[in-house]
Amino acid sequence: MTEGRDDRGVAQTGSNARKVFIKTYGCQMNVYDSQRMGDALGSDGYQPTETMEDADLILLNTCHIREKAAEKIYSELGRIRLLKAERANEGRELRVGVAGCVAQAEGHEIIARAPAVDLVIGPQTYHRLPQALAKVARGERVVDIDHAVEDKFDHLPASQAGQIRGRGVAAFLTVQEGCDKFCTFCVVPYTRGAEVSRPLAQILEEARRLVAAGVREITLLGQNVNAWESSDAQGRAIGLGGLVRQLAEIPNLLRLRYTTSHPRDMDDALIAAHRDLPALMPYLHLPVQSGSDRILKAMNRRHTAADYLRLLDRIRAARPDIALSGDFIVGFPGETDADFEDTLTLIREVGYASAFSFKYSPRPGTPGATMEGHVDEGVKDERLQHLQALLRDQQAAFARAQVGRRMPVLIEKHGRHPGQMIGRSPFLIPVVLPASAGAIGAVAEVRIESVRPNSLMAEGAEAMPEAMRLRA
Ligand code: 5AD
Ligand code: SF4
Repeated sequence: MTEGRDDRGVAQTGSNARKVFIKTYGCQMNVYDSQRMGDALGSDGYQPTETMEDADLILLNTCHIREKAAEKIYSELGRIRLLKAERANEGRELRVGVAGCVAQAEGHEIIARAPAVDLVIGPQTYHRLPQALAKVARGERVVDIDHAVEDKFDHLPASQAGQIRGRGVAAFLTVQEGCDKFCTFCVVPYTRGAEVSRPLAQILEEARRLVAAGVREITLLGQNVNAWESSDAQGRAIGLGGLVRQLAEIPNLLRLRYTTSHPRDMDDALIAAHRDLPALMPYLHLPVQSGSDRILKAMNRRHTAADYLRLLDRIRAARPDIALSGDFIVGFPGETDADFEDTLTLIREVGYASAFSFKYSPRPGTPGATMEGHVDEGVKDERLQHLQALLRDQQAAFARAQVGRRMPVLIEKHGRHPGQMIGRSPFLIPVVLPASAGAIGAVAEVRIESVRPNSLMAEGAEAMPEAMRLRA
């Protein structure tokens, strides 16, 4: 990268700066990983760009969780191939990399199937991205997917303060990666490997850096985030509850969240943290997948519907206003109408504030794919629609119940209209507030006045902004 100064004395990037476009699919961990790859490439002289057309390097950070997610990557690579051919005609180079879980699962197959791809790099080897790109520059096609997760944590130390500017007010921080649970539908144990926890000191260091860069809310990430474990400065074992307690002491770190949790790893210390720590937001994503014990067993979830409900009772006893979110799969092999009814019953009993639901998608290499009793796609469709209608009703009821309540809102950015800001309620729902409520990064106490399809309106936010009134 060459740097120059224009006549206003502002540092400017020279025209031959290389640009990288990173497209992220899938979960929040991929969002975090994309940011870290961006950081690593920044040190290597790459600037981020928002458009593919502008890029010298395109990286697709991929998701393998369902068939559709994986197929999307190949159609995107087809389009990129055309772009690459256009570039070649102009005598300009375009390099293309596939990262993430499809890269991990399909490795060499991607190189064989997608001629546009120069580089395949797995989630555990991002720290070697600059070396891999150097090989690509020498004309090699590179597949780099074999490594342990521990190495990733060792080699990708906390981002430097300069690199994490621009993360905004709310940031992700990966504390755990991988999964030992082996739910029979899921590819994650194969793509992300065994459960590994990032050491406490590294997490505290990164959290402090994020806060120094202006972050006020941190969401701790892990495929099984509540399986996180480490030892404290005295060598004593601590779990996620203990970690959250330590993070809550960092000055100016106003809010903490974590995702995604497994019901089996919700221990007393974490539940107590919800009771004791005002910074730990009253929102919990706790997937149950199904309400049928027979299906839960076939899924190898190792808990029953009653276990899950009892756990929620304990969590609600600690934090009565907690908002619950979940994941559901319909049409797992062997699921009957009666099993599906059990799922609806469980949902009615819980009352979710938000939820994600999917049709079962057989993933190669997982036990579910070869089970008997695959459910007809039409039946899956019907069940999904039915389930989503119920979840939508619950979500709408939850949002309506906020009207008239006062709540603290963390202000994250400017709204679409002048005079409006956007923040988040403790329950993760976006809130539109008047600019007079405060600055970005501040927490404003507001009264919720009405509900919009995907947000809440705070008192004063509806008032027609000055600029619009003048135009009217
Ligand atoms: N088919 C459908 N949904 C799946 N999920 C994971 N694997 C599959 C699959 N094979 C869902 C689960 C999980 C969420 C991230 O994706 O509900 O919690
Ligand atoms: Fe997708 Fe799961 Fe990989 Fe996240 S961890 S990118 S959800 S397959």
